[in-house]
Amino acid sequence: MKKIYINEVAPAVKATYNRFHNQQGAEHIASLGSMQVIFDILHSLQPKTILEFGAGIGTLTYFCLENCQAQVDLYEDNAFCLAKLKENLSRFKGRYYLFTDYENFRSLPHKSYDLVIVDGGPYRLFPEILNSLDNIRVVFFEGRRFKAQQMFRQALKKRYSFKVSRYVSSHSKCGYKMVCRQNKNSFLRFFSYCYNYLICLADQLRVRGWKMKKI
Ligand SMILES: C[S@@+](CC[C@H](N)C(=O)[O-])C[C@H]1O[C@@H](n2cnc3c(N)ncnc32)[C@H](O)[C@@H]1O
Repeated sequence: MKKIYINEVAPAVKATYNRFHNQQGAEHIASLGSMQVIFDILHSLQPKTILEFGAGIGTLTYFCLENCQAQVDLYEDNAFCLAKLKENLSRFKGRYYLFTDYENFRSLPHKSYDLVIVDGGPYRLFPEILNSLDNIRVVFFEGRRFKAQQMFRQALKKRYSFKVSRYVSSHSKCGYKMVCRQNKNSFLRFFSYCYNYLICLADQLRVRGWKMKKI
């Protein structure tokens, strides 16, 4: 797995981080390093559609809406976060679609997502949501989220091959980027799944030692 160092943080990243990190309920917002990775992805990918799981108080949603032209579909179900989220995203009305439960998810406005951001649940819905989509291009997992990474690989393995990179930064934890390519060759897909399964397992061993219960 490629390891990529984040050494510098752009002013736009710091601006959004500063806007959010003193807010009530900001204990779990994304790190500066992760936001820098997403900033780089936004610039290289120029996404038109983004799907975000675990929007919290809306730091990453705000950041994406501010830094690209994409429509963002986001999941959040915590009552406190929902109230803060709506307040924080008030100037972006019409550019985002918020879903909070299973029924909403069935009416997701898009079938293809250029970027999927995973910073929370609903884990139980991942397989069904991913299987209902026509295409996804890049997934970013904030932090480690090993369980979510495995659920994504499992759900996507029948259609995609993957390339995973790990991002590290000296000042904060970052995350993992998974580039997904639809691949008709079942042998290459199987190889990609096994290879990525093994390197992710090795990565978990590196992080957790042999105590692998909490992934
Ligand atoms: C890591 S947080 C997501 C943070 C989000 N990406 C952000 O940067 O603002 C993951 C989940 O934790 C829950 N959460 C986050 N902040 C919370 C708070 N202050 N109170 C209760 N739950 C919270 C939410 O349900 C959210 O989906």
